[in-house]
Amino acid sequence: MNFAPTKFKVSRRDVLIGGTAAMTSTSSSAGAPPDKIRLTPGRDARPFDRDRFVENCIKAHMESDAVPAVREVLARAVSDHRSVLAGLGEATQAGLDVLLSSPTLTIFAASWTPQMNLLPHDHMMWALIGIYTGREDNILWRRGDDGIDAYAANCLFEGDVATLPADAIHSVTNPLLRFTGGIHIYGGDFFDTSRHQWDPDTLAEEPSDGDAIRAMFARENERYRRVCEE
Ligand SMILES: [Fe+2]
Repeated sequence: MNFAPTKFKVSRRDVLIGGTAAMTSTSSSAGAPPDKIRLTPGRDARPFDRDRFVENCIKAHMESDAVPAVREVLARAVSDHRSVLAGLGEATQAGLDVLLSSPTLTIFAASWTPQMNLLPHDHMMWALIGIYTGREDNILWRRGDDGIDAYAANCLFEGDVATLPADAIHSVTNPLLRFTGGIHIYGGDFFDTSRHQWDPDTLAEEPSDGDAIRAMFARENERYRRVCEE
């Protein structure tokens, strides 16, 4: 799959831990770090329109090689990350702005509070992450003989896109003192799929679902409120 149409320039940043970023696909093993790609917008870039973006993702998802096709739509969007931020708005709390929820495709903008941490979790479906403001650091985990083990890290800046295969496990940190925002796309019904998460202290495995995610955001926003009051 060619991710570099002639009107775009492509560059990459190295993975912080685990060597150079490698291309992955939905069938990739958990041993490969997620790849990421950055596109420089062409002169014909248009302001971000969330409805048009969703329509383009749905069309791309119908292609035979759906993940690279949807990824290209996302990469084109966040290549003009300022436009995406203007279209989606500045975040004031952690949360999910759902653009599409369907049995086969979920799209939302996720906002992380300053220095927010998300515990290790899986998705049970392929995922794409495109950063439009701030920065998101990922630790990649994989199942071992005794729980999960960290094996790589990936640092995503504005304009970067990462692909996570269906068996990926990651934990996420916003290292900045400002909000981070990313468009997340999943190849299934994210809110109606039983998943897994791991206690950040003990790495004990626990079930995860939409309720667990909502509870996590509620706790995080309470933490952020207390920080702001100090
Ligand atoms: Fe995730």
